[in-house]
Amino acid sequence: MKTVAVFVGSLRKESINRKFAEAIGKLAEGKLAFRFVEIGDLPLYNDDLWPDAPEAVHRVKREIEAADAVLFVTPEYNRAYTPAIKNVIDWGTRPWGKNSWEAKPSAVIGTTPGATGTAAAQNSLKGLLTVIDTVLMGQPEVYFTYKPELFADDGTVSCEKTRAFLTQWIDRFEAWIERTSEPRTKAQAGPA
Ligand SMILES: Cc1cc2nc3c(=O)[nH]c(=O)nc-3n(C[C@H](O)[C@H](O)[C@H](O)COP(=O)(O)O)c2cc1C
Repeated sequence: MKTVAVFVGSLRKESINRKFAEAIGKLAEGKLAFRFVEIGDLPLYNDDLWPDAPEAVHRVKREIEAADAVLFVTPEYNRAYTPAIKNVIDWGTRPWGKNSWEAKPSAVIGTTPGATGTAAAQNSLKGLLTVIDTVLMGQPEVYFTYKPELFADDGTVSCEKTRAFLTQWIDRFEAWIERTSEPRTKAQAGPA
């Protein structure tokens, strides 16, 4: 089963984006294995830190590199994606020549309480994800208006229509990862 490193752009405990991501992770069980990456302990990006970079920086780069794909779950802050997302992206691209994001299949989703469902935030993040050399899935888009009644007390999706919508997104992302993954070794690539 393919592994997905998941980056939630909100650091607050009651984040609806974290709840949303966790619900999708549960729905994806048996298809994709979600690995939530802690990004709240990263310092703000500073080139000067590299000679003695905090362990969190090295850990995050290892977790990106170990995953088959990456998923960004971003809230919308003032019509943009969040600083926590930009910060982990910047750390992942450095040091120069050691871009951890390179060739990773990627996707973006997000949720707001309001009707626009992070559309503005996602659209600017999508441009960045091609710049850092990930292989971005363009469709289906997930601009999700969060309503607590769509989820059960145990965090699973309780609304049938929502479950069907999210399941087809999971299936498409699983297929996208299979289709766009670069073989990691010559053995995986098969005979020349
Ligand atoms: C600094 C800030 C800016 C925000 N800007 C927007 C916005 O542009 N569009 C929007 O729909 N919601 C906006 N919101 C509301 C968020 O969608 C809402 O707080 C949401 O719950 C944040 O996601 P989280 O629960 O995962 O932390 C903003 C919230 C904050 C804290």
